[in-house]
Amino acid sequence: MNATTATYIESNKQRYLDELFDLLRIPSVSADSNFKDDVRRAAEFVRDKLSAGGLDNAQLHETPGHPIVYAEKLIDPGLPTVLVYGHYDVQPADPYDLWHTPPFEPTIRNERIYARGACDDKGQFYMHIKAIEAMLATNSLPCNVKVMIEGEEEVGSDHLGLFVAENRDMLRADVILISDTSIIANDVPSIESGLRGLSYVEVEVVGPNRDLHSGVYGGGVDNPVNVLCQMIASLKDADGRITIPGFYDKIADLSPDERAELAKAPFDLTEYKRDLGIREVFGEAGYSTNERTSIRPTLDVNGIWGGYIGEGAKTVLPSKASAKISMRLVPHQTPDEITALFKNHFESIAPQSVQVTVRPHHGGLPYVTPTDSVEFEAASRAMEESWGTKPIPTRGGGSIPIVALFEQELGIKSILMGFGLDIDALHSPNESYGLFNFYKGIETIPLFFKHYAELRG
Ligand code: BES
Ligand code: MN
Ligand code: MN
Repeated sequence: MNATTATYIESNKQRYLDELFDLLRIPSVSADSNFKDDVRRAAEFVRDKLSAGGLDNAQLHETPGHPIVYAEKLIDPGLPTVLVYGHYDVQPADPYDLWHTPPFEPTIRNERIYARGACDDKGQFYMHIKAIEAMLATNSLPCNVKVMIEGEEEVGSDHLGLFVAENRDMLRADVILISDTSIIANDVPSIESGLRGLSYVEVEVVGPNRDLHSGVYGGGVDNPVNVLCQMIASLKDADGRITIPGFYDKIADLSPDERAELAKAPFDLTEYKRDLGIREVFGEAGYSTNERTSIRPTLDVNGIWGGYIGEGAKTVLPSKASAKISMRLVPHQTPDEITALFKNHFESIAPQSVQVTVRPHHGGLPYVTPTDSVEFEAASRAMEESWGTKPIPTRGGGSIPIVALFEQELGIKSILMGFGLDIDALHSPNESYGLFNFYKGIETIPLFFKHYAELRG
């Protein structure tokens, strides 16, 4: 990177962190309407910082949900254009009592920033705003840049699709750059070349028309909680395979070479188990833990409820039971198809004694990007220059549903140049983000712009 840009970043480090702290203090929880005004405040904060950083047309774009923030700096129509995407909304911080310090009062411990959104995604997209500021302040921005930060990623990006479709011209770009994923370790840089898709459903099992005395009726009337548990248990066999007919039909298996390539990523199973406090891992037979969490699909209960869960014992045979179930998808599974297969199968295995309903929630398509493209090479060179080691291509297990939609609607590939770590505890209590990672990102992003402009040049 340009030496003056590096110096500019170095001398503004503390201010960058202070600003991130201000952003982290805004509880922009998109899922909970109690935080609606805070979500807007976060959008306004981002808009103001984009503007202060030297970008033009920084504005909120209203949607039926939370606003989208957009700004741009178009320096020369002959240069390539990078569209930066991120999200300023965060997951709910519950359960609050498990946080060592309050989720919206950022604090630093052990060189890490603790706060909800520290890594996902405030700490990560804010690196871009500061890197762009540094390039603009030192006259070294080598590409046009557009920045779009949304406020509904954590609730399925429901309104972003329409916004993108309606603003194709404004969003026209050559590549989308996103920091909302992870690297293997601070000394093992990596770039995710794929994300899993998602199908998310809620199921309800209804038995008798009211809660019953479990002594008077128990034994004679089917119990919806028992039934739901049996139905869920039957969705996976002893080999960890999902039993829904047709579930695996469309999946394109990786070649032995591709699997061997991915297996090169360092992974310590003992440390993995120790970190999670488990004695054994579990998953689909015939696949490694890394494969199970990236190139293979999943089915997991995310929440389950029914009957009496208060203090003490209440003898009741509940009338209803429910569960939220997610399925992570891999190429070429689609959420519509998988949700339909799930619904048909789940209804078909319900005993006559209950009624079952399956309601789909949000979904998203999986995504893979070739690792031999100019844009992937630019990210790879940027990381190699800032780390001194070449990043390893990996496949991610999480989902950013809008990425596949960007490709469909805009025809643009996304580069997932994330800087998080698995230990950042995204969505969990005590989410954190390393100071190393925050600053490494700010230093690496200008290198992406530089290498991308050179390679495109
Ligand atoms: N940033 C994450 C996705 C992610 C995390 C990808 C780590 C790769 C590594 C994103 O904010 C997220 O949480 N996505 C949701 C999907 C959404 C529809 C709620 C997810 O993966 O559960
Ligand atoms: Mn995220
Ligand atoms: Mn998230």
